[in-house]
Amino acid sequence: MLNKDIVNRFKSLETPFYYYDLDLLTETVKAAYKPANSRGYEIHYAIKANVNEPVLKIIQKQGLGADCVSGPEVEHALKLGFKPEKIVFAGVGKTDKEIIFGLEQGISCFNVESIAELRVINELAQKLGKTAKIALRLNPNVDAKTHHYITTGLSENKFGINYTEIPEIIENLPKFKNIEFIGLHFHIGSQITQLESFKNLCLRVNDILNTFKGYGIELQTLNLGGGLGVDYENPDGNPIPDFESFFEVFEKFLIVDSGVKIQFELGRSLVGQCAALITRVIYVKQAIKTHFAIVDAGMNDLMRPALYQAYHKIENLSSTKDLKTYDVVGPVCESSDSFGRHVQLPRTDRGDLIAIRTTGAYGQVMGNSYNLRPSTPSVYGPNI
Ligand code: LLP
Repeated sequence: MLNKDIVNRFKSLETPFYYYDLDLLTETVKAAYKPANSRGYEIHYAIKANVNEPVLKIIQKQGLGADCVSGPEVEHALKLGFKPEKIVFAGVGKTDKEIIFGLEQGISCFNVESIAELRVINELAQKLGKTAKIALRLNPNVDAKTHHYITTGLSENKFGINYTEIPEIIENLPKFKNIEFIGLHFHIGSQITQLESFKNLCLRVNDILNTFKGYGIELQTLNLGGGLGVDYENPDGNPIPDFESFFEVFEKFLIVDSGVKIQFELGRSLVGQCAALITRVIYVKQAIKTHFAIVDAGMNDLMRPALYQAYHKIENLSSTKDLKTYDVVGPVCESSDSFGRHVQLPRTDRGDLIAIRTTGAYGQVMGNSYNLRPSTPSVYGPNI
């Protein structure tokens, strides 16, 4: 995705910026859509991962829906052409205003995370004279074996309704006259690289489906969330995740009645590899134990390394000299403003262009203005 031609064109551009390879994105979205569609599965793109208009347009045109976690995300998805019947709305803390907006727009489903929320949605729907379609987000207590900040499906996480509360909810459902209960929702975490975790999710879901069957409840939808990981170590070797194997796990292990619509909410796996944060070296500074390559992008442009100690591959696009070891840091006044410690790079000088790879997901969208730094611009390729 970063060939010589493109790198040449970067030279005249002001840094830092996010570079998006929209061809790679298109290929990735197709690679996900095909094996899903052939199995009758639907994908709602988790737009929290990246909300840029050209990115969303490609995804929307391919026929994916949108998984939103705030009112503004729902509004943004609608504005960019996602149909209300292809929008689902999740999140533990939906406000009344957000719920009313979703109801007025006629979105396809609220993924409900607590009994308290169920009551509020019912009340608001009643006031508006509407019926809210809802899926219950259940916490399956399955270990996603990923970073503890981005695991969501364990019983100690704030997400979802506990398995043990199912009987109480089922008993209370008939009281909620303005609610149509259509399905179940699960999401165990993000950046999951061991497909075994998804197999475990399937097995747990099979049990839960049996419980619901026991109560005589028929489901219309079964939403299994997102979470498929990307290869941060080797973005050029694995630019497109193995969607075929991912969907195969569900085909193999999930036992579901044929009328149930199976849905997924992929974010990172669709957009992660299509972008790199491009930055310039401002200074190289020798310290006692290390060399610092101080670049013009900071933790405000890309928070993941500071926030999760996340690894992103760092490349020097300007140098082919002998390898040396650097700590690649930003200009923000925080010691955690570092993109990588002990990084082997070809000898690096002031003015060199640096790429921080695999930043299409949860990169630009988590940017902030700390130190009054401006928001990071986007450059779209491959034809800049
Ligand atoms: N569905 C739900 C309910 C979610 O909470 C998430 C992500 C997704 C779908 C999409 O998951 P994905 O396919 O992208 O793994 N900022 C963190 C990641 C937070 C993920 C939050 N939930 C990071 O930079 O790693």
